[in-house]
Amino acid sequence: MSAKLSQFIEYRDIEMIDLDDIYDMECQSYDFPWTRNILKDCIMNRYDSYLATYNNTVVGYIISKVTPFESHILNLTVNKKYRNNGIGSELLEMVIHKCTILKSEIILLETRLTNGSAIALYEKYDFKKIGFRKDYYKTSLGKEDAIVYKKILD
Ligand SMILES: CC(C)(COP(=O)(O)OP(=O)(O)OC[C@H]1O[C@@H](n2cnc3c(N)ncnc32)[C@H](O)[C@@H]1OP(=O)(O)O)[C@@H](O)C(=O)NCCC(=O)NCCS
Repeated sequence: MSAKLSQFIEYRDIEMIDLDDIYDMECQSYDFPWTRNILKDCIMNRYDSYLATYNNTVVGYIISKVTPFESHILNLTVNKKYRNNGIGSELLEMVIHKCTILKSEIILLETRLTNGSAIALYEKYDFKKIGFRKDYYKTSLGKEDAIVYKKILD
């Protein structure tokens, strides 16, 4: 029986030394990536951010802001080659766990209306659609709406 890739993925907090690797992955993953400066600010300001690595190579990250009442997931990205191995789920669970520790009551996030994999992931974790933001994202053809999701924590 072959070992599952997920067994070899390591998770930890994001540090400033990870900035270049994260920025590279961000650029590979999105047509309109976050800038290096935005990522740098998030790390510098100690956002609640976690990294997934495989053989010391960055394969995923999540950036969120957790506060006692309301928390926000701002970015969740898994390297294309490593998707569908449970990495996105694990990173999401790390943030949900931190929210529980800090007694956050809700988690909010946005995703593109056409982002089927993200929608399936969030709905699997019981995020509920609460609205839309018109023309929230840029696309190569113009603009695309965002769906706003909310998860209520026990
Ligand atoms: C969305 C994303 C983070 C998911 O990461 P992942 O590591 O592949 O996710 P997981 O392997 O943990 O999958 C979790 C669930 O997501 C859903 N899912 C993942 N990929 C899917 C796909 N291609 N189609 C349908 N559902 C999918 C499934 O419900 C899956 O649960 P299951 O394995 O029990 O069926 C990843 O696809 C990604 O980085 N996409 C590009 C960046 C992005 O769009 N980020 C989200 C911005 S809001």
